[in-house]
Amino acid sequence: MAHTLVRATLGLTQPAHIEPPKISFSAKEIDLVEWKGDILAVGVTEKDMVKDENLKFQNSILKKLDSQLGGLLAEASLEEDFTGKAGQSTVLRLPGLGSKRIGLIGLGQSASTALAYRGLGEAVAVAAKSTQASNVAIALASPEELSAESKLSSASAIASGTALGTFEDNRFKSESKKATLKSVDILGFGTGPELEKKLKYTEDLCSGIIFGRELVNAPANVLTPGVLAEEASKIASMYSDVLSATILNADQCKELKMGSYLGVAAASVNPPHFIHLCYKPPSVPVKAKLALVGKGLTFDSGGYNIKTGPVCSIELMKFDMGGSAAVLGAAKAIGQIKPEGVEVHFIAAACENMISGTGMRPGDIVTASNGKTIEVNNTDAEGRLTLADALVYACNQGVEKIIDLATLTGACRVALGPSIAGVFTPSDDLAKEVLVASEVSGEKLWRMPLEESYWDCMKSGVADMVNTGDRQGGAITAALFLKQFVDEKVQWMHIDMAGPVWNDKKKTATGFGISTLVEWVLRNSS
Ligand code: BES
Ligand code: MN
Ligand code: ZN
Repeated sequence: MAHTLVRATLGLTQPAHIEPPKISFSAKEIDLVEWKGDILAVGVTEKDMVKDENLKFQNSILKKLDSQLGGLLAEASLEEDFTGKAGQSTVLRLPGLGSKRIGLIGLGQSASTALAYRGLGEAVAVAAKSTQASNVAIALASPEELSAESKLSSASAIASGTALGTFEDNRFKSESKKATLKSVDILGFGTGPELEKKLKYTEDLCSGIIFGRELVNAPANVLTPGVLAEEASKIASMYSDVLSATILNADQCKELKMGSYLGVAAASVNPPHFIHLCYKPPSVPVKAKLALVGKGLTFDSGGYNIKTGPVCSIELMKFDMGGSAAVLGAAKAIGQIKPEGVEVHFIAAACENMISGTGMRPGDIVTASNGKTIEVNNTDAEGRLTLADALVYACNQGVEKIIDLATLTGACRVALGPSIAGVFTPSDDLAKEVLVASEVSGEKLWRMPLEESYWDCMKSGVADMVNTGDRQGGAITAALFLKQFVDEKVQWMHIDMAGPVWNDKKKTATGFGISTLVEWVLRNSS
Protein backbone atom coordinates (compact mmCIF):
# COMPACT_ATOMS: atom_id res chain seq x y z
CA MET A 1 0.00 0.00 0.00
CA ALA A 2 1.16 3.49 -0.80
CA HIS A 3 0.21 5.20 2.43
CA THR A 4 1.76 4.38 5.75
CA LEU A 5 -0.21 5.14 8.83
CA VAL A 6 1.29 7.07 11.70
CA ARG A 7 0.55 4.76 14.60
CA ALA A 8 -0.86 6.21 17.77
CA THR A 9 1.87 6.51 20.35
CA LEU A 10 -0.09 8.21 23.13
CA GLY A 11 1.34 6.76 26.36
CA LEU A 12 3.93 4.85 24.31
CA THR A 13 1.75 1.74 24.38
CA GLN A 14 1.94 -0.83 21.61
CA PRO A 15 0.33 -4.26 21.72
CA ALA A 16 2.72 -7.21 21.90
CA HIS A 17 2.46 -9.55 18.93
CA ILE A 18 1.09 -12.63 20.63
CA GLU A 19 -0.35 -15.37 18.44
CA PRO A 20 -3.70 -16.60 19.80
CA PRO A 21 -3.50 -20.21 21.09
CA LYS A 22 -3.53 -22.80 18.34
CA ILE A 23 -5.39 -25.87 19.52
CA SER A 24 -5.90 -28.84 17.25
CA PHE A 25 -9.26 -30.56 17.55
CA SER A 26 -9.82 -34.10 16.34
CA ALA A 27 -12.79 -36.41 16.52
CA LYS A 28 -11.88 -39.93 17.63
CA GLU A 29 -13.59 -43.15 18.63
CA ILE A 30 -11.50 -44.53 21.49
CA ASP A 31 -12.72 -46.26 24.63
CA LEU A 32 -12.55 -43.73 27.46
CA VAL A 33 -10.54 -46.01 29.72
CA GLU A 34 -7.94 -46.48 26.95
CA TRP A 35 -7.44 -42.80 26.16
CA LYS A 36 -3.99 -41.50 27.12
CA GLY A 37 -3.29 -37.87 28.02
CA ASP A 38 -3.53 -35.20 30.70
CA ILE A 39 -7.27 -34.83 31.38
CA LEU A 40 -10.21 -36.97 30.39
CA ALA A 41 -13.23 -34.68 30.80
CA VAL A 42 -16.71 -36.16 30.87
CA GLY A 43 -19.83 -34.02 30.55
CA VAL A 44 -22.50 -35.40 32.86
CA THR A 45 -26.13 -34.49 33.52
CA GLU A 46 -27.76 -34.77 36.94
CA LYS A 47 -29.47 -37.92 35.68
CA ASP A 48 -26.11 -39.47 34.74
CA MET A 49 -24.94 -38.96 38.33
CA VAL A 50 -27.78 -40.95 39.91
CA LYS A 51 -26.43 -43.88 41.94
CA ASP A 52 -28.13 -47.10 43.07
CA GLU A 53 -28.54 -48.26 46.67
CA ASN A 54 -24.95 -49.61 46.68
CA LEU A 55 -23.69 -46.17 45.63
CA LYS A 56 -22.83 -47.46 42.16
CA PHE A 57 -23.43 -45.49 38.96
CA GLN A 58 -26.24 -46.61 36.69
CA ASN A 59 -24.88 -44.77 33.66
CA SER A 60 -22.86 -47.32 31.71
CA ILE A 61 -19.89 -45.08 30.85
CA LEU A 62 -19.49 -43.82 34.41
CA LYS A 63 -19.93 -47.37 35.69
CA LYS A 64 -17.10 -48.59 33.46
CA LEU A 65 -14.78 -45.73 34.48
CA ASP A 66 -15.62 -46.26 38.13
CA SER A 67 -14.88 -49.96 38.08
CA GLN A 68 -11.56 -49.27 36.36
CA LEU A 69 -10.84 -46.86 39.21
CA GLY A 70 -11.89 -49.32 41.89
CA GLY A 71 -14.94 -47.30 42.95
CA LEU A 72 -12.98 -44.13 43.62
CA LEU A 73 -14.93 -42.04 41.10
CA ALA A 74 -18.28 -42.64 42.85
CA GLU A 75 -16.65 -42.07 46.23
CA ALA A 76 -14.84 -38.87 45.24
CA SER A 77 -17.87 -37.39 43.50
CA LEU A 78 -19.91 -37.94 46.65
CA GLU A 79 -17.25 -36.37 48.84
CA GLU A 80 -17.02 -33.39 46.52
CA ASP A 81 -20.84 -33.15 46.49
CA PHE A 82 -20.74 -33.23 42.71
CA THR A 83 -24.25 -33.83 41.38
CA GLY A 84 -23.92 -32.77 37.73
CA LYS A 85 -25.53 -29.34 38.16
CA ALA A 86 -24.72 -26.83 35.42
CA GLY A 87 -21.59 -24.89 36.31
CA GLN A 88 -20.25 -27.59 38.67
CA SER A 89 -16.97 -29.23 37.83
CA THR A 90 -14.38 -31.33 39.58
CA VAL A 91 -10.99 -32.55 38.43
CA LEU A 92 -9.59 -35.60 40.21
CA ARG A 93 -6.12 -37.07 40.08
CA LEU A 94 -6.92 -40.76 40.22
CA PRO A 95 -4.56 -43.57 39.23
CA GLY A 96 -5.79 -46.45 37.07
CA LEU A 97 -6.77 -44.81 33.82
CA GLY A 98 -4.75 -43.95 30.72
CA SER A 99 -5.29 -40.29 31.56
CA LYS A 100 -3.52 -38.46 34.36
CA ARG A 101 -6.67 -36.77 35.60
CA ILE A 102 -10.37 -37.24 35.18
CA GLY A 103 -12.75 -34.29 35.10
CA LEU A 104 -16.49 -34.35 35.65
CA ILE A 105 -18.29 -31.35 34.22
CA GLY A 106 -21.90 -30.71 35.18
CA LEU A 107 -24.37 -30.10 32.35
CA GLY A 108 -27.50 -29.61 34.47
CA GLN A 109 -30.75 -31.52 34.11
CA SER A 110 -30.37 -32.16 30.43
CA ALA A 111 -27.84 -30.69 28.06
CA SER A 112 -29.46 -29.92 24.77
CA THR A 113 -28.46 -26.33 24.07
CA ALA A 114 -25.44 -24.85 22.35
CA LEU A 115 -24.96 -22.79 25.49
CA ALA A 116 -24.62 -25.88 27.71
CA TYR A 117 -22.05 -27.48 25.40
CA ARG A 118 -20.12 -24.24 25.09
CA GLY A 119 -20.06 -24.18 28.92
CA LEU A 120 -18.60 -27.70 28.92
CA GLY A 121 -15.78 -26.57 26.65
CA GLU A 122 -15.13 -23.49 28.77
CA ALA A 123 -14.94 -25.60 31.94
CA VAL A 124 -12.40 -27.87 30.25
CA ALA A 125 -10.32 -24.83 29.30
CA VAL A 126 -10.34 -23.66 32.93
CA ALA A 127 -9.31 -27.14 34.14
CA ALA A 128 -6.52 -27.34 31.55
CA LYS A 129 -5.22 -23.92 32.62
CA SER A 130 -5.11 -24.77 36.32
CA THR A 131 -3.40 -28.13 35.79
CA GLN A 132 -1.14 -27.00 32.92
CA ALA A 133 -2.55 -29.73 30.71
CA SER A 134 -1.46 -29.89 27.09
CA ASN A 135 -3.78 -32.59 25.80
CA VAL A 136 -7.32 -33.35 26.87
CA ALA A 137 -10.19 -35.53 25.75
CA ILE A 138 -13.84 -34.52 26.03
CA ALA A 139 -16.73 -37.00 26.07
CA LEU A 140 -20.33 -37.22 27.24
CA ALA A 141 -21.64 -39.77 29.71
CA SER A 142 -24.78 -40.16 27.58
CA PRO A 143 -23.72 -39.68 23.97
CA GLU A 144 -26.53 -41.93 22.72
CA GLU A 145 -29.02 -39.15 23.45
CA LEU A 146 -27.62 -37.03 20.60
CA SER A 147 -29.11 -37.26 17.11
CA ALA A 148 -26.71 -37.36 14.14
CA GLU A 149 -27.43 -33.69 13.39
CA SER A 150 -26.97 -32.52 16.96
CA LYS A 151 -23.70 -34.46 17.22
CA LEU A 152 -22.18 -32.02 14.74
CA SER A 153 -23.50 -28.89 16.40
CA SER A 154 -22.73 -30.00 19.95
CA ALA A 155 -19.17 -31.06 19.03
CA SER A 156 -18.77 -27.64 17.47
CA ALA A 157 -20.12 -25.86 20.57
CA ILE A 158 -17.76 -27.86 22.81
CA ALA A 159 -14.79 -27.05 20.59
CA SER A 160 -15.59 -23.34 20.45
CA GLY A 161 -16.06 -23.20 24.24
CA THR A 162 -12.64 -24.78 24.70
CA ALA A 163 -10.88 -22.55 22.17
CA LEU A 164 -12.49 -19.32 23.41
CA GLY A 165 -12.07 -20.30 27.08
CA THR A 166 -8.36 -20.89 26.51
CA PHE A 167 -7.84 -17.48 24.92
CA GLU A 168 -6.56 -14.72 27.19
CA ASP A 169 -5.76 -11.28 25.85
CA ASN A 170 -2.27 -10.60 27.21
CA ARG A 171 -1.10 -8.16 24.53
CA PHE A 172 -0.98 -5.26 26.95
CA LYS A 173 0.69 -7.07 29.85
CA SER A 174 4.44 -6.84 30.20
CA GLU A 175 4.56 -10.48 31.30
CA SER A 176 2.20 -13.33 30.60
CA LYS A 177 1.99 -17.08 30.67
CA LYS A 178 1.41 -18.99 27.47
CA ALA A 179 -1.58 -21.30 27.24
CA THR A 180 -0.50 -24.93 27.64
CA LEU A 181 -3.42 -26.63 25.87
CA LYS A 182 -2.39 -27.95 22.46
CA SER A 183 -4.74 -30.73 21.45
CA VAL A 184 -8.30 -31.78 22.17
CA ASP A 185 -9.76 -35.18 21.28
CA ILE A 186 -13.52 -35.22 20.98
CA LEU A 187 -14.69 -38.73 21.83
CA GLY A 188 -17.99 -40.41 21.07
CA PHE A 189 -19.29 -37.90 18.51
CA GLY A 190 -18.35 -40.07 15.53
CA THR A 191 -15.60 -39.49 12.98
CA GLY A 192 -15.43 -38.71 9.29
CA PRO A 193 -15.30 -35.83 6.82
CA GLU A 194 -18.55 -34.16 7.90
CA LEU A 195 -17.40 -33.78 11.49
CA GLU A 196 -13.88 -32.78 10.42
CA LYS A 197 -15.41 -30.07 8.24
CA LYS A 198 -17.53 -28.81 11.12
CA LEU A 199 -14.49 -28.65 13.41
CA LYS A 200 -12.53 -26.73 10.78
CA TYR A 201 -15.48 -24.34 10.48
CA THR A 202 -15.43 -23.92 14.27
CA GLU A 203 -11.72 -23.09 14.20
CA ASP A 204 -12.29 -20.43 11.51
CA LEU A 205 -15.21 -19.00 13.45
CA CYS A 206 -13.20 -18.86 16.69
CA SER A 207 -10.33 -17.05 15.00
CA GLY A 208 -12.89 -14.43 13.92
CA ILE A 209 -14.28 -14.17 17.45
CA ILE A 210 -10.81 -13.82 18.98
CA PHE A 211 -9.96 -11.11 16.45
CA GLY A 212 -13.18 -9.29 17.38
CA ARG A 213 -12.36 -9.54 21.09
CA GLU A 214 -8.89 -8.15 20.52
CA LEU A 215 -10.30 -5.18 18.61
CA VAL A 216 -12.70 -4.35 21.45
CA ASN A 217 -10.11 -4.87 24.21
CA ALA A 218 -7.57 -2.57 22.55
CA PRO A 219 -7.72 0.86 24.22
CA ALA A 220 -8.66 3.96 22.27
CA ASN A 221 -5.12 5.36 22.38
CA VAL A 222 -3.99 2.31 20.39
CA LEU A 223 -7.06 1.45 18.32
CA THR A 224 -7.83 4.74 16.57
CA PRO A 225 -10.20 4.86 13.57
CA GLY A 226 -7.12 4.68 11.32
CA VAL A 227 -5.80 1.58 13.05
CA LEU A 228 -9.23 -0.07 12.85
CA ALA A 229 -9.21 0.60 9.10
CA GLU A 230 -5.71 -0.81 8.85
CA GLU A 231 -6.79 -3.99 10.65
CA ALA A 232 -9.72 -4.30 8.23
CA SER A 233 -7.38 -3.89 5.24
CA LYS A 234 -5.11 -6.59 6.66
CA ILE A 235 -8.04 -9.02 6.81
CA ALA A 236 -8.86 -8.23 3.19
CA SER A 237 -5.29 -8.83 2.02
CA MET A 238 -5.02 -12.04 4.06
CA TYR A 239 -8.03 -13.49 2.20
CA SER A 240 -7.62 -11.51 -1.00
CA ASP A 241 -9.09 -14.33 -3.13
CA VAL A 242 -12.53 -13.45 -1.77
CA LEU A 243 -12.26 -10.13 0.10
CA SER A 244 -11.51 -6.61 -1.09
CA ALA A 245 -11.22 -3.39 0.92
CA THR A 246 -12.30 0.17 0.26
CA ILE A 247 -11.33 2.75 2.88
CA LEU A 248 -12.73 6.26 2.47
CA ASN A 249 -11.05 9.26 4.06
CA ALA A 250 -12.87 12.37 5.32
CA ASP A 251 -12.69 14.11 1.91
CA GLN A 252 -14.19 11.11 0.14
CA CYS A 253 -16.96 10.93 2.76
CA LYS A 254 -17.59 14.62 2.17
CA GLU A 255 -18.05 13.96 -1.53
CA LEU A 256 -20.65 11.37 -0.59
CA LYS A 257 -22.33 14.05 1.58
CA MET A 258 -22.02 12.07 4.82
CA GLY A 259 -22.62 15.13 6.99
CA SER A 260 -24.12 13.20 9.87
CA TYR A 261 -21.06 10.92 10.25
CA LEU A 262 -18.57 13.73 9.64
CA GLY A 263 -20.34 15.86 12.25
CA VAL A 264 -19.52 13.28 14.93
CA ALA A 265 -15.92 12.98 13.74
CA ALA A 266 -15.36 16.76 13.64
CA ALA A 267 -13.95 17.20 17.17
CA SER A 268 -11.23 14.58 16.84
CA VAL A 269 -7.56 14.92 15.87
CA ASN A 270 -7.67 11.27 14.79
CA PRO A 271 -9.44 11.45 11.42
CA PRO A 272 -12.44 9.27 10.52
CA HIS A 273 -12.06 6.21 8.28
CA PHE A 274 -15.06 4.73 6.49
CA ILE A 275 -14.45 0.99 6.17
CA HIS A 276 -16.00 -1.20 3.48
CA LEU A 277 -14.93 -4.82 2.90
CA CYS A 278 -16.62 -6.82 0.18
CA TYR A 279 -16.82 -10.62 0.13
CA LYS A 280 -17.40 -12.29 -3.23
CA PRO A 281 -17.70 -16.10 -3.31
CA PRO A 282 -15.11 -18.23 -5.16
CA SER A 283 -17.55 -18.99 -7.99
CA VAL A 284 -20.70 -17.57 -9.59
CA PRO A 285 -23.67 -17.20 -9.31
CA VAL A 286 -24.47 -14.92 -6.39
CA LYS A 287 -27.97 -15.56 -5.12
CA ALA A 288 -28.10 -13.31 -2.07
CA LYS A 289 -26.54 -9.92 -1.35
CA LEU A 290 -26.15 -8.99 2.30
CA ALA A 291 -24.68 -6.13 4.31
CA LEU A 292 -23.40 -6.12 7.88
CA VAL A 293 -23.02 -2.63 9.33
CA GLY A 294 -21.28 -2.00 12.66
CA LYS A 295 -21.09 1.05 14.93
CA GLY A 296 -17.42 2.01 15.01
CA LEU A 297 -16.86 4.60 17.74
CA THR A 298 -13.31 3.86 18.87
CA PHE A 299 -14.09 6.14 21.80
CA ASP A 300 -17.28 7.88 22.94
CA SER A 301 -16.70 10.71 25.40
CA GLY A 302 -20.24 11.96 24.81
CA GLY A 303 -18.97 15.14 23.15
CA TYR A 304 -20.27 18.42 24.68
CA ASN A 305 -22.96 16.31 26.34
CA ILE A 306 -20.02 14.70 28.07
CA LYS A 307 -20.50 11.47 29.97
CA THR A 308 -20.35 12.36 33.66
CA GLY A 309 -21.15 10.57 36.88
CA PRO A 310 -20.10 7.19 38.22
CA VAL A 311 -22.51 5.03 36.19
CA CYS A 312 -21.81 6.53 32.76
CA SER A 313 -18.87 4.09 32.20
CA ILE A 314 -16.86 6.63 30.21
CA GLU A 315 -13.69 4.63 30.94
CA LEU A 316 -15.21 1.66 29.09
CA MET A 317 -16.18 3.58 25.99
CA LYS A 318 -13.39 1.99 23.98
CA PHE A 319 -15.95 -0.80 23.53
CA ASP A 320 -18.21 1.52 21.54
CA MET A 321 -16.79 -0.02 18.35
CA GLY A 322 -18.12 -3.46 19.39
CA GLY A 323 -20.55 -3.48 16.46
CA SER A 324 -17.77 -2.94 13.93
CA ALA A 325 -15.62 -5.53 15.72
CA ALA A 326 -18.46 -8.03 15.26
CA VAL A 327 -18.67 -7.14 11.58
CA LEU A 328 -14.90 -7.42 11.01
CA GLY A 329 -14.67 -10.61 13.09
CA ALA A 330 -17.39 -12.07 10.87
CA ALA A 331 -15.45 -10.89 7.79
CA LYS A 332 -12.35 -12.75 8.97
CA ALA A 333 -14.33 -15.95 9.56
CA ILE A 334 -16.21 -15.68 6.24
CA GLY A 335 -12.91 -14.98 4.43
CA GLN A 336 -11.69 -18.37 5.64
CA ILE A 337 -14.92 -20.37 5.30
CA LYS A 338 -15.62 -19.00 1.78
CA PRO A 339 -19.36 -19.79 1.45
CA GLU A 340 -20.81 -20.00 -2.08
CA GLY A 341 -23.74 -18.08 -3.55
CA VAL A 342 -23.61 -15.09 -1.23
CA GLU A 343 -22.07 -11.62 -1.47
CA VAL A 344 -21.47 -9.78 1.81
CA HIS A 345 -20.61 -6.15 2.45
CA PHE A 346 -18.94 -5.35 5.77
CA ILE A 347 -19.31 -1.67 6.64
CA ALA A 348 -18.18 0.55 9.52
CA ALA A 349 -18.13 4.34 9.74
CA ALA A 350 -15.25 4.55 12.21
CA CYS A 351 -14.52 7.70 14.22
CA GLU A 352 -14.20 9.13 17.73
CA ASN A 353 -16.71 11.25 19.64
CA MET A 354 -14.51 13.88 21.30
CA ILE A 355 -14.68 17.49 22.44
CA SER A 356 -12.97 20.48 20.81
CA GLY A 357 -13.60 23.84 19.20
CA THR A 358 -14.14 22.13 15.86
CA GLY A 359 -16.75 19.71 17.18
CA MET A 360 -20.53 19.68 17.01
CA ARG A 361 -22.41 21.86 19.48
CA PRO A 362 -25.68 20.64 20.99
CA GLY A 363 -28.36 22.16 18.78
CA ASP A 364 -26.33 22.03 15.56
CA ILE A 365 -28.08 20.72 12.45
CA VAL A 366 -26.30 18.14 10.29
CA THR A 367 -27.35 16.78 6.89
CA ALA A 368 -27.08 13.06 6.16
CA SER A 369 -26.19 11.54 2.76
CA ASN A 370 -29.85 10.84 1.92
CA GLY A 371 -30.56 14.56 2.31
CA LYS A 372 -32.37 14.32 5.65
CA THR A 373 -31.54 16.97 8.26
CA ILE A 374 -30.96 16.23 11.93
CA GLU A 375 -30.98 18.62 14.87
CA VAL A 376 -28.36 17.23 17.26
CA ASN A 377 -30.09 17.88 20.58
CA ASN A 378 -27.62 15.55 22.30
CA THR A 379 -24.05 14.95 21.10
CA ASP A 380 -23.93 11.71 23.11
CA ALA A 381 -26.47 10.10 20.79
CA GLU A 382 -23.66 9.90 18.22
CA GLY A 383 -23.80 6.24 17.21
CA ARG A 384 -27.04 6.70 15.29
CA LEU A 385 -25.56 9.71 13.46
CA THR A 386 -22.66 7.61 12.16
CA LEU A 387 -24.94 4.66 11.37
CA ALA A 388 -27.32 6.90 9.41
CA ASP A 389 -24.72 7.49 6.69
CA ALA A 390 -23.42 3.92 6.91
CA LEU A 391 -26.95 2.56 6.32
CA VAL A 392 -27.52 4.86 3.32
CA TYR A 393 -24.19 3.65 1.89
CA ALA A 394 -25.16 -0.01 2.54
CA CYS A 395 -28.48 0.44 0.72
CA ASN A 396 -26.56 1.90 -2.25
CA GLN A 397 -24.63 -1.40 -2.57
CA GLY A 398 -27.81 -3.04 -3.89
CA VAL A 399 -28.19 -5.50 -1.01
CA GLU A 400 -31.44 -7.27 -0.13
CA LYS A 401 -30.81 -7.60 3.59
CA ILE A 402 -28.96 -5.49 6.15
CA ILE A 403 -28.13 -6.23 9.77
CA ASP A 404 -26.60 -3.44 11.80
CA LEU A 405 -24.99 -4.02 15.20
CA ALA A 406 -24.32 -1.27 17.69
CA THR A 407 -23.58 -0.53 21.32
CA LEU A 408 -26.29 2.03 20.83
CA THR A 409 -28.16 2.74 24.05
CA GLY A 410 -27.79 2.46 27.80
CA ALA A 411 -31.58 2.02 27.68
CA CYS A 412 -31.22 -1.39 26.01
CA ARG A 413 -28.79 -2.46 28.74
CA VAL A 414 -31.31 -1.36 31.35
CA ALA A 415 -34.10 -3.26 29.59
CA LEU A 416 -32.34 -6.57 28.88
CA GLY A 417 -29.32 -6.64 31.22
CA PRO A 418 -25.74 -7.51 30.43
CA SER A 419 -26.12 -10.71 28.42
CA ILE A 420 -29.05 -10.18 26.05
CA ALA A 421 -29.07 -8.03 22.92
CA GLY A 422 -32.19 -6.27 21.62
CA VAL A 423 -33.38 -6.99 18.09
CA PHE A 424 -35.46 -4.50 16.11
CA THR A 425 -36.86 -5.21 12.66
CA PRO A 426 -40.06 -4.61 10.70
CA SER A 427 -39.49 -7.94 8.92
CA ASP A 428 -40.87 -11.09 10.57
CA ASP A 429 -38.97 -13.21 8.02
CA LEU A 430 -35.61 -11.67 8.88
CA ALA A 431 -36.42 -11.89 12.61
CA LYS A 432 -37.03 -15.61 12.21
CA GLU A 433 -33.83 -16.19 10.20
CA VAL A 434 -31.61 -14.43 12.71
CA LEU A 435 -33.27 -15.85 15.83
CA VAL A 436 -32.82 -19.38 14.47
CA ALA A 437 -29.15 -18.58 13.76
CA SER A 438 -28.75 -17.29 17.32
CA GLU A 439 -30.10 -20.52 18.77
CA VAL A 440 -27.35 -22.40 16.96
CA SER A 441 -24.71 -19.93 18.10
CA GLY A 442 -25.94 -19.81 21.68
CA GLU A 443 -26.05 -16.00 21.70
CA LYS A 444 -29.05 -14.43 23.40
CA LEU A 445 -31.24 -12.11 21.33
CA TRP A 446 -34.67 -10.74 22.20
CA ARG A 447 -37.01 -9.07 19.72
CA MET A 448 -38.24 -5.62 20.77
CA PRO A 449 -41.06 -3.53 19.27
CA LEU A 450 -40.54 -0.78 16.69
CA GLU A 451 -43.39 1.28 18.10
CA GLU A 452 -44.09 3.95 15.47
CA SER A 453 -46.10 6.16 17.82
CA TYR A 454 -42.93 6.80 19.82
CA TRP A 455 -41.55 8.70 16.83
CA ASP A 456 -43.49 11.79 18.01
CA CYS A 457 -40.75 12.71 20.47
CA MET A 458 -38.15 12.69 17.66
CA LYS A 459 -39.74 15.62 15.81
CA SER A 460 -37.78 18.85 15.51
CA GLY A 461 -39.10 22.39 15.12
CA VAL A 462 -36.35 23.33 12.67
CA ALA A 463 -35.02 20.11 11.06
CA ASP A 464 -36.47 16.80 9.84
CA MET A 465 -35.83 15.15 13.20
CA VAL A 466 -33.83 15.40 16.42
CA ASN A 467 -31.35 12.67 17.32
CA THR A 468 -32.59 12.12 20.89
CA GLY A 469 -36.09 11.54 22.22
CA ASP A 470 -37.51 10.77 25.67
CA ARG A 471 -35.50 8.78 28.18
CA GLN A 472 -38.27 6.20 28.31
CA GLY A 473 -38.16 3.72 25.44
CA GLY A 474 -34.73 5.06 24.44
CA ALA A 475 -33.66 1.88 22.65
CA ILE A 476 -36.85 1.95 20.56
CA THR A 477 -36.57 5.60 19.47
CA ALA A 478 -32.92 4.96 18.56
CA ALA A 479 -34.03 2.10 16.31
CA LEU A 480 -36.80 4.24 14.78
CA PHE A 481 -34.15 6.88 14.04
CA LEU A 482 -32.02 4.33 12.12
CA LYS A 483 -35.10 3.24 10.15
CA GLN A 484 -35.21 6.73 8.56
CA PHE A 485 -32.03 5.85 6.65
CA VAL A 486 -32.98 2.44 5.25
CA ASP A 487 -34.72 1.89 1.87
CA GLU A 488 -38.13 0.37 2.40
CA LYS A 489 -37.43 -2.41 -0.09
CA VAL A 490 -34.44 -3.64 1.90
CA GLN A 491 -35.03 -6.08 4.77
CA TRP A 492 -33.30 -4.53 7.76
CA MET A 493 -32.52 -5.49 11.35
CA HIS A 494 -30.87 -3.48 14.11
CA ILE A 495 -29.17 -5.29 16.99
CA ASP A 496 -28.47 -3.20 20.10
CA MET A 497 -25.59 -5.01 21.82
CA ALA A 498 -24.80 -2.39 24.50
CA GLY A 499 -25.25 -5.10 27.17
CA PRO A 500 -23.43 -8.17 25.86
CA VAL A 501 -20.41 -6.47 24.23
CA TRP A 502 -18.50 -6.56 27.50
CA ASN A 503 -18.09 -9.05 30.34
CA ASP A 504 -17.96 -6.93 33.50
CA LYS A 505 -16.87 -9.82 35.72
CA LYS A 506 -14.02 -10.94 33.51
CA LYS A 507 -13.24 -7.33 32.46
CA THR A 508 -12.94 -8.33 28.84
CA ALA A 509 -14.71 -8.24 25.49
CA THR A 510 -17.06 -11.09 24.63
CA GLY A 511 -16.87 -11.12 20.83
CA PHE A 512 -20.67 -10.97 20.86
CA GLY A 513 -22.51 -11.19 17.54
CA ILE A 514 -19.86 -12.86 15.41
CA SER A 515 -21.07 -16.43 15.64
CA THR A 516 -24.69 -15.45 14.97
CA LEU A 517 -23.66 -13.32 11.97
CA VAL A 518 -21.52 -16.07 10.47
CA GLU A 519 -24.27 -18.65 11.01
CA TRP A 520 -26.79 -16.29 9.36
CA VAL A 521 -24.53 -15.66 6.34
CA LEU A 522 -24.05 -19.42 5.91
CA ARG A 523 -27.81 -19.94 6.01
CA ASN A 524 -28.06 -17.42 3.15
CA SER A 525 -25.40 -19.24 1.12
CA SER A 526 -25.93 -22.16 -1.22
N1 BES B 1 -22.31 4.28 23.45
C1 BES B 1 -23.42 4.79 24.15
C2 BES B 1 -24.36 3.70 24.64
C3 BES B 1 -23.87 2.86 25.78
C4 BES B 1 -23.93 3.33 27.07
C5 BES B 1 -23.39 1.60 25.55
C6 BES B 1 -23.50 2.54 28.12
C7 BES B 1 -22.97 0.80 26.60
C8 BES B 1 -23.03 1.29 27.88
C9 BES B 1 -24.22 5.71 23.25
O1 BES B 1 -23.50 6.44 22.32
C10 BES B 1 -24.88 6.70 24.13
O2 BES B 1 -24.21 7.49 24.71
N2 BES B 1 -26.20 6.63 24.19
C11 BES B 1 -26.96 7.50 25.00
C12 BES B 1 -28.13 7.98 24.19
C13 BES B 1 -28.91 9.08 24.82
C14 BES B 1 -28.09 10.35 24.84
C15 BES B 1 -30.16 9.28 24.01
C16 BES B 1 -27.41 6.73 26.22
O3 BES B 1 -27.76 5.57 26.10
O4 BES B 1 -27.39 7.30 27.31
MN1 MN C 1 -22.77 8.27 23.13
ZN1 ZN D 1 -21.75 5.63 21.71
